[in-house]
Amino acid sequence: MTIPQLLDQRPVALLFSGGDSPGMNAFLRAAVRLGMNRNEVPVLGIMDGYVGLVRTVKQLEAGETSLEKLRRSIARRPGLLGLRVKKQHIVLMDHESVSGIVVKGGIELRTARSQEFRNPERRRQVIQLLRDLNVRAVIVCGGDGSLAGAEIMQRESGLQVIGVPGTIDNDLPITDYSLGVQSAIETLVRAVDSIKDTARSHRRVMVLETMGRDSGELTQLAAIASGAEYALIPEDGYLTSDRIRAMAEEMETSFKRGRTHSIVLVAEGVKMDKQTWESPAWVVSAKLAEAFRHGPYKDIETRASVLGHLQRGGRPAPFDSILAAEFAEVAWHAIAAGKDSGITVLQNGEYKLVPIGSPPASDRPARLQRLHLQHQALSSW
Ligand code: F6P
Repeated sequence: MTIPQLLDQRPVALLFSGGDSPGMNAFLRAAVRLGMNRNEVPVLGIMDGYVGLVRTVKQLEAGETSLEKLRRSIARRPGLLGLRVKKQHIVLMDHESVSGIVVKGGIELRTARSQEFRNPERRRQVIQLLRDLNVRAVIVCGGDGSLAGAEIMQRESGLQVIGVPGTIDNDLPITDYSLGVQSAIETLVRAVDSIKDTARSHRRVMVLETMGRDSGELTQLAAIASGAEYALIPEDGYLTSDRIRAMAEEMETSFKRGRTHSIVLVAEGVKMDKQTWESPAWVVSAKLAEAFRHGPYKDIETRASVLGHLQRGGRPAPFDSILAAEFAEVAWHAIAAGKDSGITVLQNGEYKLVPIGSPPASDRPARLQRLHLQHQALSSW
């Protein structure tokens, strides 16, 4: 593509920000393909999220490149070639560069968390850069922080900005599911399944720490899907020593009935009654062990594992790839119409664009509470 062609067609800029999640590559592919095949609009992939834009602004500022040179290198080094050039942070995506990535975890354009984008002067420069590249709309895929950045950019620039929820935390109440949640649940189900073997073989209580930041959604859903008996989530309030002792007593009652082991999922965001730097899984495991030492089942051992970034990686679940295609479709629909900014969401089975800052379609705390009660009923015997 020549420079005038690229600029005349007014490209769409696409970036990923915050934590990666499975399904982001599927979204990248869908956004590029729908742009090229259906809308005849090129997509500029931004490397490393907002950081890539800030780096480009700095290159211009330092005189390492000029706007003209930048435009030329974008047009001359598209796709895989552009993705390989270290100092090029803006790449004209083509078919080859998104081929085969639908089932790949991670994100080919990479992602990052940018502190500098919080600086209003940097944002002004970034917005100017996007204008200089004749960008018609910006798509930002990420979690709550990234979408907050998108909202600010929309307000300050007047550009059309489309936010796409991508986070394993499922902590964006505006959408029933974000990209990556189902994949992370699948990963957790596999992890629980493997760890259950050891739990059963050794008569152990295994305490597994799950991600989710301040939200317990991922943990609660994974507990239902995996059969883990306990889900300790931040929404239930402080995890006091008394609560852990009560849990140990409940387990002892179930051991009396013939149960031999137990799996506890504890969300990383739970708050302990006493401040500690230790991770919640270790604290819960140690306190359960202590309680067992004083009870009738002194032989029951406990172990803790922090599952960590395992949950963010891997091949996306088919649901996430489908969600990615649907979100891309909604985004392009809005871009083709050419006016509304907003967030692509799934609400009660419907994929749509809602204005940034819209209230959730359902009462999420009530949903979580219902899931919590359901899980308790499913796992007690
Ligand atoms: O937001 C996704 C998430 O994986 C959270 O669940 C977790 O708290 C955080 O990101 C971890 O971030 P990092 O990869 O920067 O350590």
